[in-house]
Amino acid sequence: MCGIVGIASRNKVSSREVIEMLKRLEYRGYDSFGYANIEGTCEKFIGRIDGKKITDIGSKVSICHTRWSTHGGVTKANSHPHNDCSGNIFVIHNGIIENYLQIKEDMIKKGHRFKSQTDTEIIAHYFEEYIKSLPIEKVVETFFKEAKGEFAILLIIKDDNKIYAFKRGSPLVLGVGKGKNILASDIYAFSNITDDVIFFNEDEFAIVEDSNYTFYKIDPKLKPVKKDVVKIQWAQKEETKEEYDHYMIKEIKEQPEAVKRLLTSLQYEQKNNLDSLKKMIKTSKRVVFIAAGSSYHASLLGVSFLNKVGIETHTSIASEFKTFNLIDDNTLVIAISQSGETMDVIEALRGIKQKGVKIASLVNVPYSTIQRMSNVSINIQAGQERCVAATKTFTNQVLTLAYLAHLFGYEFNVNNIPEKIESIFDQEDHIKKLAKKLKYKKDIYIIGRGYVYPIAREIALKLKEIAYIHAEGMMGGELKHGTLALIEDGVPVISLIPKEDRSIISNTKEVEARGGYIIPITNNPEINYPDKFIVKTDYELHFCIMSSIVGQLLTYYTAKEKNLPIDMPRNLAKSVTVK
Ligand code: G6P
Repeated sequence: MCGIVGIASRNKVSSREVIEMLKRLEYRGYDSFGYANIEGTCEKFIGRIDGKKITDIGSKVSICHTRWSTHGGVTKANSHPHNDCSGNIFVIHNGIIENYLQIKEDMIKKGHRFKSQTDTEIIAHYFEEYIKSLPIEKVVETFFKEAKGEFAILLIIKDDNKIYAFKRGSPLVLGVGKGKNILASDIYAFSNITDDVIFFNEDEFAIVEDSNYTFYKIDPKLKPVKKDVVKIQWAQKEETKEEYDHYMIKEIKEQPEAVKRLLTSLQYEQKNNLDSLKKMIKTSKRVVFIAAGSSYHASLLGVSFLNKVGIETHTSIASEFKTFNLIDDNTLVIAISQSGETMDVIEALRGIKQKGVKIASLVNVPYSTIQRMSNVSINIQAGQERCVAATKTFTNQVLTLAYLAHLFGYEFNVNNIPEKIESIFDQEDHIKKLAKKLKYKKDIYIIGRGYVYPIAREIALKLKEIAYIHAEGMMGGELKHGTLALIEDGVPVISLIPKEDRSIISNTKEVEARGGYIIPITNNPEINYPDKFIVKTDYELHFCIMSSIVGQLLTYYTAKEKNLPIDMPRNLAKSVTVK
């Protein structure tokens, strides 16, 4: 995964300023970070990005990188930038070179010495080996031919005022400034510097200097290409924690506002887009969602809402899409992705785009790859979400899907959702008390049937990723087919009990009979357990959103009790840009 930034400037730019830009890409990984410039300075550090750790030096051309480890552990040696044997070439990379071992062996035979276990380091040695005898453009051609996998690479050479930029698969963008050009994984890295942007397409290479740039398509030889400069309308403001301890709780609390913003936008600014999407659904035989993580859980609800109004709908986990065989000319694919950059989703879309299948998307990040790949795209208007765990974006995805189904007759009260969410916040003290008990638990089960089952899975995901508690979200009816064996005295089971569902009451009783510690989330006044949560609503959509928010708060306060790094949990990243 990883985030990359490179700057070529007429005047020297301080290393700390460059690292500030990198900080905005920390959502892409935070195992380690590093910096290098064309004077040959290179510094690397384990852990989250901290500009103060870097020596404050100026340079006209520099690159920096934040890492989410794929090949090789979290060590200083494996951190980027990587360099060649001579120490003249520095490389940063986002993606995976799949055949790196083969290239590495070849380089070792040619006498190169490697210092890391990464796939990236081979790039520096490869260029060192071949630029001795060939112009760099030729080496680029052979590199694109030989390297398998995905990459966004920035390469600099000591005392050379250029950045060499390569893109296949992983995102890369150029910000065109006055007397400076900036390369980065996304446009937000340089949102305070320029609005003029060039997006790299597949298999493109660019040579970037302070006041000019040249783009080439690899086809398979380098051919110069003319690129359009896109003027960005910055729709999202950069969020801060304000008075909150963590982004997670701030983002949970923002949900009433985020929901209002989305509803207004769907009714006015995005109405035309929504009408186009409605038309696309009407003229298709079936709808297929593609998504990952929390977005996949939202898609499960989308299937339930659309099926209810008679629209044949399926969903596929993005990384398993290859096994999904129902795509034809009459299928509408809808990608659901907060970041709009999840590699598994992009991969799936690339395959079907080539076949001419129509693509729609629900994204939160404007100008993201998935948005740009779509025939029509709806922005879920959650605002920037900085905590790794999806909270407000999940709610707004679910609401957008319900709204879409609403256009075909699905019933819910559109207007009172914000106040319903507020009513969950009234139970915060109760949630805090419960968190004190849950922090000692090793396993938690969450059960639900029918339309609430996806919420059981979403709550389980939150508890795993943020509170580090093993949790399973299950269909209530499936419990007795195996998992019930794990229920013993005191094992917490969160049971999602909508009023009309008698069967989940039986499932809850079955757990109780075996000593399970029942925590019901319900709108049924007959349900009585000491630790119950009431969600006051008669609509299934509201029940889903409200119980998911109980799960978000419970996760937050449990993780807080455990003193965990809530916004940036270990081993994860907000945007997963590798397969
Ligand atoms: C990562 C994030 C999750 C997110 C998933 C899908 O795993 O940590 O919060 O749900 O990616 O991301 P997307 O941006 O495609 O919704």
